[in-house]
Amino acid sequence: MTENQTLTVRDNRTGEEYELPITDGTVRASDFNKIGKSENEPGLAVYDPGFTNTASTRSAVTYIDGDKGILEYRGYPIEQLAEKSTFLEVAYLLIHGELPTKEQHERWVHEITFHTFVHENVKSLMQGFRYDAHPMGMLLSSVGALSTFYPEARNISDPDVRHEQVVRMIAKMPTLGAWSFRHAQGKPYVYPDNDLTYTENFLSMLFKMSEPKYDPDPRLAKALDVLLILHADHEQNCSTNAVRSVGSSQVDPYSAVSAGIAALYGPLHGGANEAVLKMLRRIGTKDKIPAFIEGVKNGDEKLMGFGHRVYKNFDPRATIIKKACDDVFEVTGVNPLLEIAQELERIALEDDYFISRKLYPNVDFYSGLIYEALQFPPEMFTVLFAIGRTPGWLAQWLELVDDKEQKIARPKQIYTGDRQLEFVPAEERWA
Ligand code: SDX
Repeated sequence: MTENQTLTVRDNRTGEEYELPITDGTVRASDFNKIGKSENEPGLAVYDPGFTNTASTRSAVTYIDGDKGILEYRGYPIEQLAEKSTFLEVAYLLIHGELPTKEQHERWVHEITFHTFVHENVKSLMQGFRYDAHPMGMLLSSVGALSTFYPEARNISDPDVRHEQVVRMIAKMPTLGAWSFRHAQGKPYVYPDNDLTYTENFLSMLFKMSEPKYDPDPRLAKALDVLLILHADHEQNCSTNAVRSVGSSQVDPYSAVSAGIAALYGPLHGGANEAVLKMLRRIGTKDKIPAFIEGVKNGDEKLMGFGHRVYKNFDPRATIIKKACDDVFEVTGVNPLLEIAQELERIALEDDYFISRKLYPNVDFYSGLIYEALQFPPEMFTVLFAIGRTPGWLAQWLELVDDKEQKIARPKQIYTGDRQLEFVPAEERWA
Protein backbone atom coordinates (compact mmCIF):
# COMPACT_ATOMS: atom_id res chain seq x y z
CA MET A 1 0.00 0.00 0.00
CA THR A 2 1.47 3.46 -0.93
CA GLU A 3 2.26 6.24 1.55
CA ASN A 4 -0.40 8.37 -0.18
CA GLN A 5 -3.08 8.23 2.53
CA THR A 6 -5.79 9.97 0.52
CA LEU A 7 -8.99 9.05 -1.30
CA THR A 8 -9.62 10.66 -4.68
CA VAL A 9 -13.35 11.00 -5.27
CA ARG A 10 -14.74 12.02 -8.66
CA ASP A 11 -18.26 13.46 -8.66
CA ASN A 12 -19.55 12.26 -12.03
CA ARG A 13 -22.41 14.76 -11.83
CA THR A 14 -19.94 17.63 -12.22
CA GLY A 15 -16.64 15.99 -13.22
CA GLU A 16 -15.13 17.57 -10.08
CA GLU A 17 -12.45 15.59 -8.24
CA TYR A 18 -11.80 15.75 -4.52
CA GLU A 19 -8.84 14.50 -2.48
CA LEU A 20 -9.96 13.28 0.97
CA PRO A 21 -7.38 12.40 3.67
CA ILE A 22 -7.50 8.88 5.14
CA THR A 23 -6.75 8.87 8.90
CA ASP A 24 -6.68 5.71 11.04
CA GLY A 25 -8.54 3.76 8.37
CA THR A 26 -11.32 6.33 8.18
CA VAL A 27 -12.39 9.30 6.10
CA ARG A 28 -14.13 12.17 7.92
CA ALA A 29 -17.82 12.18 6.98
CA SER A 30 -17.69 15.98 6.98
CA ASP A 31 -15.14 15.85 4.10
CA PHE A 32 -17.87 14.39 1.90
CA ASN A 33 -19.94 17.47 2.56
CA LYS A 34 -17.69 19.48 0.22
CA ILE A 35 -18.79 17.28 -2.66
CA GLY A 36 -21.57 18.80 -4.73
CA LYS A 37 -21.98 21.67 -2.27
CA SER A 38 -23.35 24.84 -3.82
CA GLU A 39 -25.75 27.65 -3.04
CA ASN A 40 -28.73 25.38 -3.69
CA GLU A 41 -27.18 21.99 -2.92
CA PRO A 42 -26.37 20.87 0.69
CA GLY A 43 -23.35 18.73 -0.25
CA LEU A 44 -23.10 14.97 0.29
CA ALA A 45 -23.74 13.21 3.61
CA VAL A 46 -23.15 9.51 4.40
CA TYR A 47 -26.09 7.17 5.09
CA ASP A 48 -25.45 4.38 7.59
CA PRO A 49 -28.50 2.90 9.43
CA GLY A 50 -27.35 1.26 12.70
CA PHE A 51 -23.87 2.75 12.17
CA THR A 52 -22.67 -0.53 10.64
CA ASN A 53 -19.63 1.19 9.12
CA THR A 54 -19.30 4.44 11.05
CA ALA A 55 -16.72 5.31 13.72
CA SER A 56 -18.33 7.69 16.22
CA THR A 57 -15.32 8.34 18.43
CA ARG A 58 -11.68 7.69 19.19
CA SER A 59 -11.35 5.45 22.24
CA ALA A 60 -8.56 3.78 24.24
CA VAL A 61 -10.83 1.74 26.52
CA THR A 62 -11.50 -1.53 24.66
CA TYR A 63 -10.01 -3.18 21.57
CA ILE A 64 -11.89 -5.88 19.64
CA ASP A 65 -10.72 -7.80 16.59
CA GLY A 66 -13.91 -9.50 15.40
CA ASP A 67 -12.22 -11.80 12.88
CA LYS A 68 -9.60 -13.04 15.31
CA GLY A 69 -11.93 -13.14 18.34
CA ILE A 70 -9.72 -10.74 20.31
CA LEU A 71 -11.03 -8.63 23.23
CA GLU A 72 -8.71 -6.44 25.33
CA TYR A 73 -9.54 -3.94 28.11
CA ARG A 74 -6.94 -1.12 28.08
CA GLY A 75 -4.67 -3.53 26.16
CA TYR A 76 -5.00 -6.50 28.52
CA PRO A 77 -6.45 -9.69 26.92
CA ILE A 78 -9.81 -10.68 28.43
CA GLU A 79 -8.56 -14.27 28.99
CA GLN A 80 -5.84 -13.03 31.38
CA LEU A 81 -8.13 -10.62 33.23
CA ALA A 82 -10.84 -13.26 33.66
CA GLU A 83 -8.31 -15.74 35.03
CA LYS A 84 -6.09 -13.51 37.18
CA SER A 85 -7.93 -10.28 38.08
CA THR A 86 -11.06 -9.26 40.01
CA PHE A 87 -14.04 -7.25 38.85
CA LEU A 88 -13.17 -4.23 41.01
CA GLU A 89 -9.57 -4.25 39.78
CA VAL A 90 -10.83 -4.46 36.17
CA ALA A 91 -13.27 -1.62 36.93
CA TYR A 92 -10.33 0.48 38.18
CA LEU A 93 -8.37 -0.40 35.02
CA LEU A 94 -11.24 0.63 32.74
CA ILE A 95 -11.93 3.88 34.61
CA HIS A 96 -8.34 5.01 35.26
CA GLY A 97 -6.63 3.46 32.20
CA GLU A 98 -4.03 1.53 34.22
CA LEU A 99 -3.86 -1.16 36.88
CA PRO A 100 -3.95 0.14 40.48
CA THR A 101 -1.04 0.15 42.91
CA LYS A 102 -1.67 -1.61 46.23
CA GLU A 103 -2.64 1.68 47.88
CA GLN A 104 -4.84 2.73 44.97
CA HIS A 105 -6.58 -0.65 44.99
CA GLU A 106 -7.19 -0.54 48.75
CA ARG A 107 -8.60 3.00 48.53
CA TRP A 108 -10.76 2.05 45.52
CA VAL A 109 -12.22 -1.04 47.22
CA HIS A 110 -12.84 0.98 50.40
CA GLU A 111 -14.60 3.77 48.46
CA ILE A 112 -16.82 1.33 46.56
CA THR A 113 -17.61 -0.71 49.70
CA PHE A 114 -18.68 2.36 51.66
CA HIS A 115 -20.95 3.71 48.94
CA THR A 116 -23.16 0.61 48.54
CA PHE A 117 -26.08 2.09 50.52
CA VAL A 118 -28.76 4.13 48.76
CA HIS A 119 -31.06 6.84 50.11
CA GLU A 120 -34.11 5.33 51.85
CA ASN A 121 -36.36 7.26 49.46
CA VAL A 122 -34.91 5.19 46.60
CA LYS A 123 -36.13 2.12 48.46
CA SER A 124 -39.60 3.66 48.76
CA LEU A 125 -39.50 4.46 45.03
CA MET A 126 -38.72 0.82 44.24
CA GLN A 127 -41.44 -0.44 46.59
CA GLY A 128 -43.94 1.51 44.49
CA PHE A 129 -43.53 -0.85 41.53
CA ARG A 130 -46.06 -3.62 40.83
CA TYR A 131 -45.18 -7.00 42.35
CA ASP A 132 -44.34 -8.37 38.89
CA ALA A 133 -42.34 -5.39 37.59
CA HIS A 134 -39.42 -6.45 35.37
CA PRO A 135 -36.17 -5.85 37.31
CA MET A 136 -34.64 -4.03 34.33
CA GLY A 137 -37.49 -1.51 34.40
CA MET A 138 -36.84 -1.00 38.12
CA LEU A 139 -33.08 -0.67 37.61
CA LEU A 140 -33.52 1.77 34.73
CA SER A 141 -35.82 3.96 36.81
CA SER A 142 -33.87 3.85 40.06
CA VAL A 143 -30.55 4.71 38.40
CA GLY A 144 -32.19 7.65 36.65
CA ALA A 145 -33.71 8.67 39.98
CA LEU A 146 -30.23 8.83 41.57
CA SER A 147 -29.65 11.99 39.51
CA THR A 148 -32.22 13.71 41.75
CA PHE A 149 -30.39 12.63 44.93
CA TYR A 150 -27.03 13.93 43.72
CA PRO A 151 -27.82 17.17 41.86
CA GLU A 152 -24.14 18.14 42.06
CA ALA A 153 -23.54 15.39 39.48
CA ARG A 154 -24.61 17.86 36.80
CA ASN A 155 -21.28 19.61 37.31
CA ILE A 156 -19.57 17.21 34.91
CA SER A 157 -16.59 19.51 34.32
CA ASP A 158 -15.31 18.91 37.87
CA PRO A 159 -13.09 15.77 37.95
CA ASP A 160 -13.71 15.23 41.67
CA VAL A 161 -17.49 15.36 41.13
CA ARG A 162 -17.14 12.95 38.21
CA HIS A 163 -15.09 10.55 40.33
CA GLU A 164 -17.66 10.67 43.15
CA GLN A 165 -20.50 9.67 40.79
CA VAL A 166 -18.39 6.91 39.21
CA VAL A 167 -17.77 5.39 42.64
CA ARG A 168 -21.41 5.75 43.66
CA MET A 169 -22.75 4.08 40.51
CA ILE A 170 -20.36 1.11 40.57
CA ALA A 171 -21.10 0.67 44.28
CA LYS A 172 -24.88 1.04 44.16
CA MET A 173 -25.71 -0.94 40.99
CA PRO A 174 -25.64 -4.32 42.85
CA THR A 175 -27.79 -2.88 45.65
CA LEU A 176 -30.42 -1.64 43.18
CA GLY A 177 -30.18 -4.87 41.17
CA ALA A 178 -30.58 -7.07 44.23
CA TRP A 179 -33.50 -5.01 45.53
CA SER A 180 -35.25 -5.33 42.14
CA PHE A 181 -34.85 -9.09 42.51
CA ARG A 182 -36.13 -9.16 46.11
CA HIS A 183 -39.08 -6.96 45.12
CA ALA A 184 -40.16 -9.42 42.43
CA GLN A 185 -40.05 -12.18 45.06
CA GLY A 186 -41.96 -10.22 47.67
CA LYS A 187 -39.01 -10.60 50.05
CA PRO A 188 -37.59 -7.90 52.34
CA TYR A 189 -34.75 -5.87 50.86
CA VAL A 190 -31.36 -6.87 52.33
CA TYR A 191 -28.96 -4.05 53.15
CA PRO A 192 -25.31 -4.18 52.03
CA ASP A 193 -22.85 -6.04 54.26
CA ASN A 194 -19.59 -4.13 54.16
CA ASP A 195 -17.62 -7.07 55.59
CA LEU A 196 -18.09 -8.95 52.32
CA THR A 197 -16.40 -8.54 48.93
CA TYR A 198 -18.27 -6.93 46.04
CA THR A 199 -19.77 -10.14 44.63
CA GLU A 200 -20.20 -11.80 48.05
CA ASN A 201 -22.16 -8.73 49.17
CA PHE A 202 -24.26 -8.92 46.00
CA LEU A 203 -25.07 -12.59 46.72
CA SER A 204 -25.95 -11.63 50.31
CA MET A 205 -28.38 -8.89 49.21
CA LEU A 206 -29.94 -11.37 46.78
CA PHE A 207 -30.27 -14.52 48.85
CA LYS A 208 -29.89 -13.73 52.60
CA MET A 209 -32.94 -14.79 54.60
CA SER A 210 -33.25 -15.03 58.40
CA GLU A 211 -29.62 -16.05 59.10
CA PRO A 212 -27.71 -13.33 61.02
CA LYS A 213 -24.95 -13.22 58.40
CA TYR A 214 -25.02 -14.59 54.85
CA ASP A 215 -22.32 -17.17 54.15
CA PRO A 216 -21.55 -16.92 50.40
CA ASP A 217 -20.09 -19.90 48.57
CA PRO A 218 -16.65 -18.61 47.43
CA ARG A 219 -16.85 -20.66 44.24
CA LEU A 220 -20.10 -18.97 43.20
CA ALA A 221 -18.80 -15.54 44.21
CA LYS A 222 -15.73 -16.18 42.06
CA ALA A 223 -17.80 -17.37 39.08
CA LEU A 224 -19.98 -14.26 39.36
CA ASP A 225 -16.87 -12.07 39.57
CA VAL A 226 -15.57 -13.61 36.32
CA LEU A 227 -18.95 -13.07 34.62
CA LEU A 228 -18.93 -9.41 35.67
CA ILE A 229 -15.39 -9.03 34.25
CA LEU A 230 -16.51 -10.54 30.93
CA HIS A 231 -19.36 -8.03 30.64
CA ALA A 232 -17.41 -4.97 31.80
CA ASP A 233 -16.97 -3.22 28.44
CA HIS A 234 -17.28 -3.86 24.73
CA GLU A 235 -16.31 -0.71 22.76
CA GLN A 236 -19.18 1.11 20.97
CA ASN A 237 -22.03 -1.40 21.47
CA CYS A 238 -25.65 -0.26 21.40
CA SER A 239 -25.91 0.65 25.10
CA THR A 240 -22.52 2.39 25.19
CA ASN A 241 -23.54 4.36 22.12
CA ALA A 242 -26.71 5.34 24.04
CA VAL A 243 -24.65 6.49 27.03
CA ARG A 244 -22.38 8.53 24.77
CA SER A 245 -25.23 9.97 22.72
CA VAL A 246 -27.23 11.05 25.78
CA GLY A 247 -24.03 12.10 27.55
CA SER A 248 -23.12 14.33 24.60
CA SER A 249 -25.87 16.73 25.74
CA GLN A 250 -23.74 17.20 28.93
CA VAL A 251 -26.42 15.69 31.15
CA ASP A 252 -25.39 14.07 34.47
CA PRO A 253 -23.91 10.51 34.34
CA TYR A 254 -26.89 8.89 36.12
CA SER A 255 -29.21 10.00 33.31
CA ALA A 256 -26.69 8.92 30.66
CA VAL A 257 -26.22 5.47 32.24
CA SER A 258 -29.98 5.01 32.64
CA ALA A 259 -30.17 5.45 28.84
CA GLY A 260 -27.57 2.70 28.54
CA ILE A 261 -29.65 0.43 30.77
CA ALA A 262 -32.68 1.12 28.58
CA ALA A 263 -30.73 0.12 25.44
CA LEU A 264 -29.33 -3.00 27.11
CA TYR A 265 -32.89 -4.07 28.02
CA GLY A 266 -33.63 -4.86 24.36
CA PRO A 267 -33.69 -8.55 23.25
CA LEU A 268 -31.17 -7.90 20.46
CA HIS A 269 -28.65 -6.60 23.01
CA GLY A 270 -28.37 -7.46 26.71
CA GLY A 271 -31.87 -8.91 26.79
CA ALA A 272 -30.62 -11.79 24.61
CA ASN A 273 -29.42 -13.85 27.60
CA GLU A 274 -32.97 -13.90 28.98
CA ALA A 275 -34.30 -14.70 25.48
CA VAL A 276 -31.82 -17.63 25.13
CA LEU A 277 -33.16 -19.38 28.25
CA LYS A 278 -36.76 -18.90 27.10
CA MET A 279 -35.77 -20.23 23.65
CA LEU A 280 -34.04 -23.33 25.13
CA ARG A 281 -37.04 -23.98 27.37
CA ARG A 282 -39.43 -23.61 24.42
CA ILE A 283 -37.36 -26.13 22.37
CA GLY A 284 -37.60 -28.44 25.39
CA THR A 285 -35.90 -31.58 24.02
CA LYS A 286 -33.02 -32.32 21.63
CA ASP A 287 -35.29 -33.98 19.08
CA LYS A 288 -37.12 -30.67 18.58
CA ILE A 289 -33.90 -28.82 17.58
CA PRO A 290 -33.98 -29.58 13.81
CA ALA A 291 -37.51 -28.15 13.46
CA PHE A 292 -36.48 -25.08 15.44
CA ILE A 293 -33.40 -24.55 13.24
CA GLU A 294 -35.62 -24.82 10.14
CA GLY A 295 -37.84 -22.09 11.59
CA VAL A 296 -34.81 -19.86 12.09
CA LYS A 297 -33.63 -20.47 8.53
CA ASN A 298 -37.11 -19.63 7.25
CA GLY A 299 -36.79 -16.29 9.05
CA ASP A 300 -39.54 -17.10 11.60
CA GLU A 301 -37.20 -16.14 14.44
CA LYS A 302 -33.57 -15.66 15.39
CA LEU A 303 -31.29 -18.12 17.14
CA MET A 304 -30.85 -15.99 20.25
CA GLY A 305 -27.33 -15.89 21.65
CA PHE A 306 -25.89 -16.29 18.15
CA GLY A 307 -24.40 -13.66 15.87
CA HIS A 308 -22.60 -10.41 16.51
CA ARG A 309 -22.02 -7.12 14.70
CA VAL A 310 -18.27 -7.36 15.30
CA TYR A 311 -17.34 -10.98 16.05
CA LYS A 312 -17.33 -13.01 12.85
CA ASN A 313 -15.72 -15.82 14.76
CA PHE A 314 -16.16 -17.14 18.30
CA ASP A 315 -16.94 -14.44 20.89
CA PRO A 316 -13.94 -14.95 23.26
CA ARG A 317 -16.26 -14.34 26.20
CA ALA A 318 -18.51 -17.23 25.15
CA THR A 319 -15.48 -19.53 25.19
CA ILE A 320 -14.57 -18.45 28.73
CA ILE A 321 -18.19 -18.65 29.96
CA LYS A 322 -18.50 -22.15 28.56
CA LYS A 323 -15.56 -23.15 30.76
CA ALA A 324 -17.04 -21.29 33.76
CA CYS A 325 -20.16 -23.42 33.34
CA ASP A 326 -18.20 -26.45 34.56
CA ASP A 327 -17.04 -24.65 37.74
CA VAL A 328 -20.54 -23.50 38.62
CA PHE A 329 -22.25 -26.79 37.74
CA GLU A 330 -19.77 -28.55 40.06
CA VAL A 331 -21.48 -26.65 42.89
CA THR A 332 -25.04 -26.38 41.65
CA GLY A 333 -25.43 -29.49 39.49
CA VAL A 334 -25.65 -29.36 35.69
CA ASN A 335 -28.38 -27.21 34.18
CA PRO A 336 -30.49 -29.69 32.13
CA LEU A 337 -30.78 -27.09 29.37
CA LEU A 338 -26.99 -27.28 28.83
CA GLU A 339 -27.39 -30.39 26.72
CA ILE A 340 -29.90 -28.66 24.43
CA ALA A 341 -27.63 -25.59 24.15
CA GLN A 342 -24.62 -27.75 23.25
CA GLU A 343 -26.60 -29.72 20.63
CA LEU A 344 -28.07 -26.50 19.23
CA GLU A 345 -24.55 -25.05 18.93
CA ARG A 346 -23.21 -28.20 17.30
CA ILE A 347 -25.97 -28.31 14.67
CA ALA A 348 -25.82 -24.56 13.95
CA LEU A 349 -22.02 -24.58 13.52
CA GLU A 350 -22.38 -27.28 10.86
CA ASP A 351 -25.25 -25.58 9.00
CA ASP A 352 -24.41 -23.36 6.01
CA TYR A 353 -27.08 -20.81 6.94
CA PHE A 354 -25.09 -19.92 10.06
CA ILE A 355 -21.63 -20.58 8.59
CA SER A 356 -22.27 -18.35 5.55
CA ARG A 357 -23.48 -15.56 7.81
CA LYS A 358 -20.60 -16.09 10.26
CA LEU A 359 -23.00 -16.63 13.13
CA TYR A 360 -21.29 -18.00 16.23
CA PRO A 361 -22.32 -18.15 19.89
CA ASN A 362 -21.95 -14.76 21.58
CA VAL A 363 -21.58 -13.83 25.23
CA ASP A 364 -25.30 -14.33 25.83
CA PHE A 365 -25.57 -17.92 24.60
CA TYR A 366 -24.17 -19.65 27.68
CA SER A 367 -24.30 -16.91 30.36
CA GLY A 368 -27.99 -17.53 31.07
CA LEU A 369 -27.31 -21.20 31.86
CA ILE A 370 -24.91 -20.16 34.61
CA TYR A 371 -27.18 -17.45 35.93
CA GLU A 372 -30.06 -19.89 36.14
CA ALA A 373 -27.85 -22.44 37.92
CA LEU A 374 -27.02 -19.62 40.39
CA GLN A 375 -30.78 -19.42 41.10
CA PHE A 376 -31.39 -16.24 39.11
CA PRO A 377 -34.70 -16.10 37.19
CA PRO A 378 -34.31 -15.11 33.48
CA GLU A 379 -35.63 -11.59 34.20
CA MET A 380 -32.50 -10.94 36.31
CA PHE A 381 -29.97 -11.96 33.63
CA THR A 382 -29.82 -8.55 31.96
CA VAL A 383 -29.55 -6.88 35.38
CA LEU A 384 -26.37 -8.92 35.90
CA PHE A 385 -25.16 -7.77 32.50
CA ALA A 386 -25.86 -4.12 33.49
CA ILE A 387 -23.95 -4.46 36.78
CA GLY A 388 -20.96 -5.82 34.86
CA ARG A 389 -21.18 -3.15 32.13
CA THR A 390 -21.40 -0.18 34.51
CA PRO A 391 -17.62 0.51 34.73
CA GLY A 392 -17.41 0.27 30.94
CA TRP A 393 -20.24 2.72 30.41
CA LEU A 394 -18.62 5.10 32.89
CA ALA A 395 -15.14 4.75 31.36
CA GLN A 396 -16.60 5.58 27.95
CA TRP A 397 -18.58 8.50 29.43
CA LEU A 398 -15.44 9.91 31.08
CA GLU A 399 -13.63 9.65 27.74
CA LEU A 400 -16.51 11.47 26.03
CA VAL A 401 -16.47 14.32 28.58
CA ASP A 402 -12.74 14.87 28.04
CA ASP A 403 -12.78 14.46 24.23
CA LYS A 404 -12.34 17.89 22.61
CA GLU A 405 -13.48 16.45 19.26
CA GLN A 406 -16.92 15.41 20.57
CA LYS A 407 -20.04 17.48 19.92
CA ILE A 408 -23.71 16.95 20.77
CA ALA A 409 -24.95 13.89 18.85
CA ARG A 410 -27.31 15.10 16.13
CA PRO A 411 -27.26 12.97 12.93
CA LYS A 412 -28.73 13.97 9.57
CA GLN A 413 -31.59 12.15 7.83
CA ILE A 414 -32.93 11.36 4.38
CA TYR A 415 -36.36 13.03 4.35
CA THR A 416 -39.08 10.86 2.77
CA GLY A 417 -42.24 12.72 3.85
CA ASP A 418 -44.56 15.29 2.20
CA ARG A 419 -43.62 18.92 1.64
CA GLN A 420 -45.39 22.29 1.74
CA LEU A 421 -48.94 20.96 2.31
CA GLU A 422 -51.76 23.47 2.75
CA PHE A 423 -53.21 23.15 6.27
CA VAL A 424 -57.06 22.96 6.42
CA PRO A 425 -58.43 23.68 9.94
CA ALA A 426 -60.30 20.80 11.64
CA GLU A 427 -63.77 22.33 11.45
CA GLU A 428 -63.38 22.63 7.65
CA ARG A 429 -61.87 19.17 7.26
CA TRP A 430 -64.64 17.55 9.23
CA ALA A 431 -67.50 19.64 7.85
C1 SDX B 1 -24.70 -8.32 22.74
O1 SDX B 1 -22.35 -4.90 20.10
C2 SDX B 1 -21.90 -5.54 21.15
O2 SDX B 1 -20.74 -5.55 21.46
C3 SDX B 1 -23.00 -6.23 21.95
C4 SDX B 1 -22.53 -7.12 23.08
C5 SDX B 1 -21.86 -6.33 24.18
O3 SDX B 1 -21.06 -6.91 24.92
O4 SDX B 1 -22.24 -5.14 24.36
O5 SDX B 1 -21.60 -8.07 22.58
C6 SDX B 1 -23.69 -7.86 23.73
O6 SDX B 1 -25.63 -7.61 22.49
C7 SDX B 1 -24.50 -9.65 22.06
C8 SDX B 1 -25.60 -9.95 20.97
C9 SDX B 1 -26.82 -10.52 21.69
N1 SDX B 1 -27.96 -10.60 20.78
C10 SDX B 1 -28.42 -11.77 20.31
O7 SDX B 1 -27.90 -12.86 20.58
C11 SDX B 1 -29.68 -11.66 19.47
C12 SDX B 1 -29.54 -12.53 18.21
N2 SDX B 1 -28.49 -11.92 17.39
C13 SDX B 1 -28.94 -11.06 16.30
O8 SDX B 1 -30.09 -10.33 16.53
C14 SDX B 1 -27.79 -10.34 15.60
O9 SDX B 1 -26.81 -11.27 15.36
C15 SDX B 1 -27.17 -9.12 16.25
C16 SDX B 1 -28.19 -8.12 16.66
C17 SDX B 1 -26.37 -9.51 17.44
C18 SDX B 1 -26.22 -8.48 15.22
O10 SDX B 1 -27.02 -8.04 14.19
P1 SDX B 1 -26.38 -7.31 12.89
O11 SDX B 1 -24.92 -7.14 13.04
O12 SDX B 1 -27.20 -6.11 12.59
O13 SDX B 1 -26.55 -8.41 11.76
P2 SDX B 1 -27.84 -8.60 10.89
O14 SDX B 1 -29.08 -8.55 11.76
O15 SDX B 1 -27.77 -7.69 9.72
O16 SDX B 1 -27.64 -10.12 10.42
C19 SDX B 1 -26.94 -10.45 9.23
C20 SDX B 1 -27.66 -11.71 8.72
C21 SDX B 1 -29.16 -11.50 8.50
O17 SDX B 1 -29.58 -12.46 7.55
P3 SDX B 1 -29.82 -11.97 6.01
O18 SDX B 1 -30.65 -10.71 6.06
O19 SDX B 1 -28.42 -11.73 5.46
O20 SDX B 1 -30.52 -13.14 5.34
O21 SDX B 1 -27.56 -12.75 9.71
C22 SDX B 1 -28.88 -13.07 10.16
C23 SDX B 1 -29.78 -11.91 9.81
O22 SDX B 1 -31.13 -12.35 9.67
N3 SDX B 1 -28.79 -13.25 11.60
C24 SDX B 1 -29.39 -14.23 12.29
C25 SDX B 1 -28.99 -14.05 13.61
N4 SDX B 1 -28.19 -12.96 13.70
C26 SDX B 1 -28.08 -12.47 12.45
N5 SDX B 1 -30.20 -15.24 11.87
C27 SDX B 1 -30.62 -16.07 12.86
N6 SDX B 1 -30.28 -15.97 14.15
C28 SDX B 1 -29.49 -14.97 14.56
N7 SDX B 1 -29.16 -14.87 15.85
